[in-house]
Amino acid sequence: MPNAKKRFIVRQLKWEDFPDMASNFFGYFEEAKKDPYFGLTTFAKRPTMQDEVGWFADFYKSVLDGKRVAFVAVADGKVVGSCEARSMLRGQTHVGELGIAIKKEYRSMGIGQALIKEVLKRSRGKFEILTLKVFGHNARAKHVYQKMGFMQYGTLKKGIKRGKLYFDEDEMYINLKRFKD
Ligand SMILES: CC(C)(COP(=O)(O)OP(=O)(O)OC[C@H]1O[C@@H](n2cnc3c(N)ncnc32)[C@H](O)[C@@H]1OP(=O)(O)O)[C@@H](O)C(=O)NCCC(=O)NCCS
Repeated sequence: MPNAKKRFIVRQLKWEDFPDMASNFFGYFEEAKKDPYFGLTTFAKRPTMQDEVGWFADFYKSVLDGKRVAFVAVADGKVVGSCEARSMLRGQTHVGELGIAIKKEYRSMGIGQALIKEVLKRSRGKFEILTLKVFGHNARAKHVYQKMGFMQYGTLKKGIKRGKLYFDEDEMYINLKRFKD
């Protein structure tokens, strides 16, 4: 049954999660290729497995270095979604940027909200403010972010270009003092 609630757990990212994480990211890439309105920005060209290995090694290193908070959701024995907050550049280490994606078959089951809650909780003491960028038309994502306490502070009109299509990009933030779990 589509969107039937599934049992899932949220835990910290592990090194062993690489195959599932890579497979999920290839899935998002294919979704974006088929649907220009898909809410994640991906590379123009399909990354190679070598690219994915390099990306995950850097990603995991930044978790070990304490520069990134990363959690995954596991259902049916696989990683089905991830959420992370990472340090911004230019010395603004009190500001982190949040990113999240859930595998297609596992969306709208509460996983996104559970992951964001955990990342907000674990970001306290590391970051003071979290920001994010979202396609202006991504109603589900914006609903979830607002529910978690994020507020919109800007819109970059036509900030995303996919082929010949332009999309507005909304910018949101939360001051972690405002987050109550
Ligand atoms: C956006 C995303 C992370 C949300 O995670 P999720 O697990 O699907 O979200 P949840 O199940 O926790 O919550 C979904 C909420 O959105 C609501 N919702 C679903 N479709 C909606 C829509 N079209 N418009 C508005 N709200 C919608 C649900 O009712 C639910 O809210 P509620 O708990 O108040 O009833 C996930 O759907 C996803 O990965 N989407 C594709 C990639 C993406 O857009 N990533 C975000 C990049 S900024």
